[in-house]
Amino acid sequence: MKLVFATNNLNKLKEVQEMLPSSIELLSLEDINCFDEVAETETTLQGNAKLKANYITDKFGYNCFADDTGLEVDILEGKPGVYSARYAGVPTNSENNMQKLLAELNDKENRKAQFRTAICLNLDGKQTLFEGVCKGEILSKKQGEKGFGYDPIFKPVGFSNSFAQMKSEEKNKISHRGIAIQKLVDFLTDYKS
Ligand code: IMP
Repeated sequence: MKLVFATNNLNKLKEVQEMLPSSIELLSLEDINCFDEVAETETTLQGNAKLKANYITDKFGYNCFADDTGLEVDILEGKPGVYSARYAGVPTNSENNMQKLLAELNDKENRKAQFRTAICLNLDGKQTLFEGVCKGEILSKKQGEKGFGYDPIFKPVGFSNSFAQMKSEEKNKISHRGIAIQKLVDFLTDYKS
């Protein structure tokens, strides 16, 4: 079965392909000649994941899944959440996003936060949602060089390192996206069309 992952991030694509049974062939947006920018106009992660998956299924006719991720900070009542990529404005910039968040949390004691990933799968006319959450805290300054986005200032519960100090295999086992993708992979592995 061919299944589109609505992404052009080939690392993400390869990682998921390696977790799937060989009967499922993952295609990127480029593979199906989709070069359209789908604006993330919804106000929830699930909404944006649905928007992207539905765009591909409706326009190109493929089974497809799409993801969206946000960082939810307790004391900011869940912000930046769905707006995590654009927290410090557009064009998006991870360094500016981190500096804005560190400034907002300056001297705050409660630094609890969580990453959340929503995945929407359109398969044979049916829609299924998956979610992964990783709880942790926002550090008072950046630690580590690996990863991307908010990784240098996020430390998951039970670990002494930030995401940016972890090897990607270590992060993927406990991360929001890793958990959501594992749920998707389990569903697809058991799926009988
Ligand atoms: P996206 O939905 O994967 O594009 O993620 C939205 C934004 O959340 C990104 O621009 C990043 O800033 C942030 N983000 C998503 N996943 C991670 C992660 O695993 N670590 C750090 N930041 C992330």
